[in-house]
Amino acid sequence: MQLKGKTVLVTGASSGIGLLVASKLHENGYKVIGTSRDPKKHQAKLPFKVLPLDLNDVHSIASFGKHLFSEIEQLDVLINNAGYLVNGLAEETPIELGRQQFETNFWGTIKLTNELLPYFRNQKHGKIITIGSLLGLVSLPNVAYYAASKHALEGYFKALRFELNQFNIKVVMVEPIAFKTNIGESGTVAKGTITDYDLFRQKIIAYTKKSFDNAPEPTPVINTLLQTVKEKDPKFSYPVGKGSSIILLLQHFAYKVFEKSILKSVNASK
Ligand SMILES: NC(=O)c1ccc[n+]([C@@H]2O[C@H](COP(=O)([O-])OP(=O)(O)OC[C@H]3O[C@@H](n4cnc5c(N)ncnc54)[C@H](OP(=O)(O)O)[C@@H]3O)[C@@H](O)[C@H]2O)c1
Repeated sequence: MQLKGKTVLVTGASSGIGLLVASKLHENGYKVIGTSRDPKKHQAKLPFKVLPLDLNDVHSIASFGKHLFSEIEQLDVLINNAGYLVNGLAEETPIELGRQQFETNFWGTIKLTNELLPYFRNQKHGKIITIGSLLGLVSLPNVAYYAASKHALEGYFKALRFELNQFNIKVVMVEPIAFKTNIGESGTVAKGTITDYDLFRQKIIAYTKKSFDNAPEPTPVINTLLQTVKEKDPKFSYPVGKGSSIILLLQHFAYKVFEKSILKSVNASK
């Protein structure tokens, strides 16, 4: 099936990966619909239609399908991109912040997917591409809730892929390592409250800052997304970024080596 000219919905298309992939798809002749919590703020600058969507608001999600299908006749690809990052040591992160992280990254993504599934099933074709994270496959200090929310997406969509196979609906995860976007600034940082962690917290903050500062532009993520949009029979999992293969290899075959190298880098950070 030639997908050019087909319709793609990109959630969180106002910034970062979502903005870049939506713009690229539009440039390549796809009909693109993006979303933002505040479309008025972004619409004038964007060449594609932006609809309102807040993944934390059930009413916003419940009315979204109807609104979307008043703009388009069929949806070929959903790119579940919207999400944010809670940073902080696990014990110091208030449970409420962790809950909110799941509300957006996990529950919001699932609720939106459920809202659109009846349309996909009626069409008997479609593709659901979800931006997970390499942190949905491995974990690191300072991002416990973010990593947990992305691990949860992996488990959910792996099951859904089996169930939707009968309807010719493909389910794909794209799992980027760190790339330069607004995710560092748009997220939430839990306050340090437990003095026992003072030294480790200082080092992990420096380590995290270095990871953001050294992160490359997200071009490889955009290329992978374009590839998965076009692919007739995509795989389930697409880790993206320099070092991701070696990290996954170490996690599977030499986990202690992986742990030691992370702790060594964190401890050396200042
Ligand atoms: N950058 C990385 O290194 C990296 C690595 C792995 C995975 N990811 C994943 O890639 C995706 C995109 O992140 P990014 O790096 O491009 O970050 P970003 O620049 O901060 O963009 C995040 C997008 O998500 C939208 N969004 C945030 N909260 C939302 C909510 N409650 N409801 C609806 N939309 C919401 C924002 O739209 P509005 O503010 O306009 O509503 C924005 O367009 C996320 O799922 C992230 O976890 C990023």
